[in-house]
Amino acid sequence: MRRPEGVIQKRMKKLFIKTYGCQMNAYDSARMADLLAPLGYAGTEAPGDADMVILNTCHIREKATEKVYSELGRIRALKEEKEKSGGRMLVAVAGCTGQAEGEEIIARAPVVDMVVGPQSYHRLPEMIARIARGAGERVAADFPALEKFDALPEAVSNTGVSAFLTVQEGCDKFCTFCVVPYTRGPEHSRAPERILAEAQALSSRGAREIVLLGQNVNAYRGTDMNGKDWSLARLIEALAGVKDILRIRYTTSHPRDMSEDLIEAHGGIEKLMPFLHLPVQSGSDAVLEAMNRQHNADDYRRLIGRIRDKRPDMAFSSDFIVGFPGESDQDFEATLQLVRDIGYAQCFSFKYSPRPGTPAAAAKKQVAEGVKTARLDILQKLLLGQQDEANRTAVNRTMDVLFEKPGRNSGQIVGRTPYLQPVYVDAPTALIGSVRPIHIEALTANSLRGRLV
Ligand code: SAH
Ligand code: SF4
Ligand code: F3S
Repeated sequence: MRRPEGVIQKRMKKLFIKTYGCQMNAYDSARMADLLAPLGYAGTEAPGDADMVILNTCHIREKATEKVYSELGRIRALKEEKEKSGGRMLVAVAGCTGQAEGEEIIARAPVVDMVVGPQSYHRLPEMIARIARGAGERVAADFPALEKFDALPEAVSNTGVSAFLTVQEGCDKFCTFCVVPYTRGPEHSRAPERILAEAQALSSRGAREIVLLGQNVNAYRGTDMNGKDWSLARLIEALAGVKDILRIRYTTSHPRDMSEDLIEAHGGIEKLMPFLHLPVQSGSDAVLEAMNRQHNADDYRRLIGRIRDKRPDMAFSSDFIVGFPGESDQDFEATLQLVRDIGYAQCFSFKYSPRPGTPAAAAKKQVAEGVKTARLDILQKLLLGQQDEANRTAVNRTMDVLFEKPGRNSGQIVGRTPYLQPVYVDAPTALIGSVRPIHIEALTANSLRGRLV
């Protein structure tokens, strides 16, 4: 969709978006900025100046939701300040908390003018217009049959060297701890032609790496114009042919959906990077069963083995939950054993947080907070040791690095290895956007330092 020139209003309005949660929210924030640009909104970093503030929220753990309400307290003060000097500020809550809590947000935080869910934010312009007239609904939180993506303009915001591209939305898995199936709705895959067109647009704006996104990205099943179904592997193969795209990644995958053709792709498609985020959550069969993950710990071990058979240097990451209801010392020990068996490059780990409306929140045998804290500490020490080890083995090797942006110090640029490790190099900014062989010289904190060879 092209933007007619005349739509741009004379006075530019300022838009502040704060993004919480996963990469899919980051993608949605960029799309919301694109959507509001024709209404005259340009981005600002200062919420106090903004004519419109959007909090793109996350609902995954209790803490994530609390953060939204404390931020709304700060926004209220800024809005009052602005109104005192005769200004106006529209406040919208988008994202997963918006979806889950809807009207409740406005009741609890009257500073909020409107609420939109992750599948209905394309309605923001229409809602803004109605609210300006003092009429119309203030909450849009349905999962409309009409594809949100059809209603969105082409990506116009700055993409960066590594660009997110959502290919699949929602989740049908219903893990018993998780709110995502309720906040993002049922699984839905975008048509391959639309994805390829978006990838081309991103590449022409300077993207050299595409990160395909979905809550269950490897469950991708898109239907093309001829009615043919595409798997994620087929989509990746087609994307590898897009001009100037040098690297492809995808996240997040479910172990149940690692199909044979996708495993093959890791052996055959050079642009597909040898790093995979494959969350397992727990190493205990009993806990995995209670979580409704639909696989056991050995299935996961075998799966990792099959992927390593195709791509021996593959690096893995995972998410873990400790203190799931009923998790015993033995169950927790099984998680530690799984971690030792796999050897991860980097991981995320969390204390179980009961979420309203999910089956596990109602379970009787909740684990005491102190036990959760102790287990998380033990697990994180083990995981950090593995991450350190993975980084240490990079030292004295030469690796291809895709440079993404200027580094912290002047004269420095930063990029990533195929295994997603950040590397700082003294080199000209002209190299941003290109892949260069880099000799890794040292490991500092969580990043690598290297030099051009
Ligand atoms: N779709 C992905 C993950 C989505 S949420 C998957 O299937 O793995 C990201 C991570 O948050 C999850 O992997 C899980 O580790 C964590 N998480 C989700 N719900 C949680 C809860 N109630 N308490 C603690 N961590 C949770
Ligand atoms: Fe949540 Fe499970 Fe779906 Fe992942 S697969 S989004 S953890 S319900
Ligand atoms: Fe959070 Fe929603 Fe993503 S709950 S993790 S923002 S899908």
